[in-house]
Amino acid sequence: MASLTPISQTQFLFNKPLLKSSSPRLETCFQSSFVSKRLCFQLKVPVFDRMPLKNTAVVAATTVEKPKKSYPGEAKGFVEEMRFVAMKLHTREQAKEGEKEVKEKEEEAVRKWEPSIDGYLKFLVDSKLVYDTLEEIVEKASFPFYAEFRNTGLERSEKSAKDLEWFKEQGYNIPKPSSPGVSYSQILQELSEKDPQAFICHFYNIYFAHSAGGQMIGRKVAEQLLNKKELEFYKWDGDLSQLLQNVRDKLNKVSEGWTREEKDHCLEETEKSFKHSGEILRLILS
Ligand code: HEM
Repeated sequence: MASLTPISQTQFLFNKPLLKSSSPRLETCFQSSFVSKRLCFQLKVPVFDRMPLKNTAVVAATTVEKPKKSYPGEAKGFVEEMRFVAMKLHTREQAKEGEKEVKEKEEEAVRKWEPSIDGYLKFLVDSKLVYDTLEEIVEKASFPFYAEFRNTGLERSEKSAKDLEWFKEQGYNIPKPSSPGVSYSQILQELSEKDPQAFICHFYNIYFAHSAGGQMIGRKVAEQLLNKKELEFYKWDGDLSQLLQNVRDKLNKVSEGWTREEKDHCLEETEKSFKHSGEILRLILS
């Protein structure tokens, strides 16, 4: 009777089952871009069993593994997935990995910006409101795991308060928070209560954006408007790259317990994070 013998995987060059009928052995090979394991079988057909092919029904026993979809950055951890999505939402002028076309003023290269002190003050006030909100949220910890993100060293609330104090001493009028900051703060509060995965996406993007593009803005404002004075907003106590790495590790750990759907939901929130942060950045150029 016919028997099935697996043969080497390296023999596969075809995408469709292949039958060779000229020898007493029938080879049946399966290869597909969806099936990672390629299988091939030889059907040893004894001479007395040989029949014209058209009458032969070949049934191949094969193991079909469910394809596992991979996500960009996944191997390095979930933060890398969030970073991958975020980098694509930059414009090419903002960052070399960016893919978005420039539509708004703040999406142009920072070196082309023409900031004003009044605009920067509006930005600083709204940014402070957003950081106050984030820092209150992790303090309150409606979801217990938020407590992991207390005292990370990335907090910006006190730093921005010091800068606003300094501007006041210089005689500048400190504006009230404006609509971009007020509405983003409300959104963050709501998400933190009912949608932790979405909230974490905003948390990641806000703090990490400030450490990257934020620093470019800090340098621009210092040079162009503040006679090179470095603001506290752009200073961290300790080694910034280590602080960022500690938060990455915590984010990766927390998200290990999420389902793929929860992770995707978090990633999908990135666009909203760019929208709201973009509106606050735009204030600098107003
Ligand atoms: C003026 C606007 C911006 C500029 C110039 C800018 C620029 C940059 C640059 C140069 C990087 C570093 C890329 C690298 O690692 O090589 C970066 C990283 C990043 N940006 Fe932005 N960005 C801006 C706005 C934003 C906004 C609005 C968000 C989201 C709210 C954002 C989120 C991020 C994130 C999450 C990273 C990854 C940081 C990391 O891996 O440590 N950026 N950005």
